[in-house]
Amino acid sequence: MLVVRSAGALRAARSESAAPVGFVPTMGYLHEGHLSLVHAARAECRMVVASIFVNPTQFAPGEDFERYPRDEPHDLALLEGAGVDLVFVPPVEELYSPGDTTRVTVSALSHMLEGARRPGHFDGVATVVAKLFHIVRPDRAYFGQKDAQQLAVIRHMTRDLLLPVTVVGCPTVREPDGLACSSRNVYLSAEQRAQAVALSGGLRAAEAAFAAGERDAEVLRRVARAPIEARPLASIDYLSLADAELLTEIQGRVTGPVLLSMAVAFGATHLLDNTTLRP
Ligand code: PAJ
Repeated sequence: MLVVRSAGALRAARSESAAPVGFVPTMGYLHEGHLSLVHAARAECRMVVASIFVNPTQFAPGEDFERYPRDEPHDLALLEGAGVDLVFVPPVEELYSPGDTTRVTVSALSHMLEGARRPGHFDGVATVVAKLFHIVRPDRAYFGQKDAQQLAVIRHMTRDLLLPVTVVGCPTVREPDGLACSSRNVYLSAEQRAQAVALSGGLRAAEAAFAAGERDAEVLRRVARAPIEARPLASIDYLSLADAELLTEIQGRVTGPVLLSMAVAFGATHLLDNTTLRP
């Protein structure tokens, strides 16, 4: 496995004859969720490239950019074990030169849900993913359904900018009790961690109601909220039942595929989870 830190070194190492090239962008502090993306890429691509970059432009001032967990030696060992060929670990200056001011905005999808909670977040995500696609030039790029709005933003950007990349969405990997794997789970105290199971509990309750024929959007939202509201340390940022493509909130009856998504705060830590319901 080769580790490179500059765009020039990456371009030199990315063999032209290696197609298809699969790409897994990450912010590091890797867990089973990240590795599932690598496994999917490894199964489908000749060459697998991963990146580790904690992207400053997707963090607002006062968010956890500085204290975001980092462990490069451990990450590199995991990536090597998973069969990655090439890892790109750029310093910030490699992706953002002085005076950098260009941003990619996916207007329709960036301002609701996570975008409302974190203004500017998806501009930072779309911008860095566009830069990484430009440097790595992957044939296929792998993203987790865990961050469903991010996946939708990246699909939209890739289509709108005519980027020759196939965006592949991969299922959410969970801990044995149902909590979605996340680099931010390390922020949770033991008590918060025990109560965090309520997110997936809410999703499973709504899935069960949906499977039993419930189609009223407000009832489904209420069913999903109940297990979370029963946990004293949990505070719901938002809980949404939205059109799976447009992310517009559903009123009345569910007729097409819908995304049930939520952000829940435990102290300063915000956890995300979601599921898709299909009639
Ligand atoms: P990061 O949070 O490190 O996640 C990298 C990729 O792993 C994303 O595609 C994310 O959806 C996926 N992922 C995270 N947890 C997962 C889980 N439990 N199951 C499956 N996939 C999971 O998302 C980012 O970094 C950044 O925004 C990035 C796209 C790299 C741009 O900076």
